[in-house]
Amino acid sequence: MATTSTLLTGISELWTLDPALDDPDRPGEVTGDQVLHDAALVIEDGVIAWAGPAAQAPTADEAEDLGGRAVLPGWVDSHSHLVFDGDRAAEFEARMAGRSYSAGGIGVTTDATRSAPDDRLRSLVQERIAGAHAGGTTCLETKTGYGLTVEDELRAARLLSDLIREGRLDEATFLGAHLVPREYDGRDGRPDAEEYVDLVTGEMLTAVAPHVRWIDVFCEEGAFDPEQSERVLRAGAAAGLGLRVHGNQLGTSGGVALAVELGAASVDHVNHLAPADVEALAASDTIATVLPACDLSTRAPLAPAKELLEAGANLAIASNCNPGTSYTSAMSFCVATAVLQMHLSLAQAVRAATRGGALALRREDVGHLGVGARADLHVLDAPAAIHLAYRPGMPLTHQVRRRGRRIV
Ligand code: NIG
Repeated sequence: MATTSTLLTGISELWTLDPALDDPDRPGEVTGDQVLHDAALVIEDGVIAWAGPAAQAPTADEAEDLGGRAVLPGWVDSHSHLVFDGDRAAEFEARMAGRSYSAGGIGVTTDATRSAPDDRLRSLVQERIAGAHAGGTTCLETKTGYGLTVEDELRAARLLSDLIREGRLDEATFLGAHLVPREYDGRDGRPDAEEYVDLVTGEMLTAVAPHVRWIDVFCEEGAFDPEQSERVLRAGAAAGLGLRVHGNQLGTSGGVALAVELGAASVDHVNHLAPADVEALAASDTIATVLPACDLSTRAPLAPAKELLEAGANLAIASNCNPGTSYTSAMSFCVATAVLQMHLSLAQAVRAATRGGALALRREDVGHLGVGARADLHVLDAPAAIHLAYRPGMPLTHQVRRRGRRIV
């Protein structure tokens, strides 16, 4: 089949973030050459075929003038939980009135999700993916974790692998170790975590593994302790899955140390870090993923994103869209928050929400607009990306392309 090339002109700022132009001594920083001004871009067969100064642009089959707008790689959202039914607005309202967040609310969503018919669950997830795309996200990871039986986790994993096969979603993660479900409560009312971990690492993993690329564990007081988390991760690795960890969200849970020790691709939340955690992350390939919308929605201390970057850690920003702690997939909002509240520069935040997310998913084809990358573009209704933080909350997404095709 003949391919069609498309030339995009009228680009005031083009954030290629081309990995070939990284400064190895300054990980997490954007170099001057990675942002072009008065630029053009050619897309061919769903990938970037050329990027450079407008004056040197080649011809193409089709052309579009973007009218002086900024173009970024689409957001790479490496952490979300989209397979659920029900909301927890009442829990959120209580939290805003002073109650603190605990992992227990996951059980409320698990009940609602288990009772949702298949077609309803599928349309809810599809709507949420469409919502993420509408905000400029073009590569999205999402997790199981609100089923917590073999049958319900398998149903979620199958749904995600179907959506990946259909080209709507990018990455799927098994999070059977999200919470010990109520049916495992012992006679003293305390959860029998060991027995549930046996299930997660045995029959559940065997059923789910063929449908996902990653395994994740919520390593936290009230969920799984470091020993239990290690069992889950080692079993996942033995089944051929890549490792991710929810760690150090509510306290110094040991999640960061475990993630680094086992070579996890990412440890997410990282709100409570000891100096040794920061050092370990800086000396590792494990990406520290911060979740600004979650920090706001739980009124938690903000993850020390700037400190992590300054120490030399690799940083990602993700939405953590879920009904308990972060009911938003708006990555532009997360980027604005990272600048306004976490004190990152705009360039650091944009990089963390694009290249950082890609690194957290161990992907090289997304998160940048270098030649050969997937043509995932976020065109802003603004001449410069700084408007994302300068005009927070404004609808600045003008156009989104995924694999070169316009989806917004
Ligand atoms: O990432 N931390 C664990 N999981 C989710 C919360 C899920 C929930 O409360 O429903 C999170 O914040």
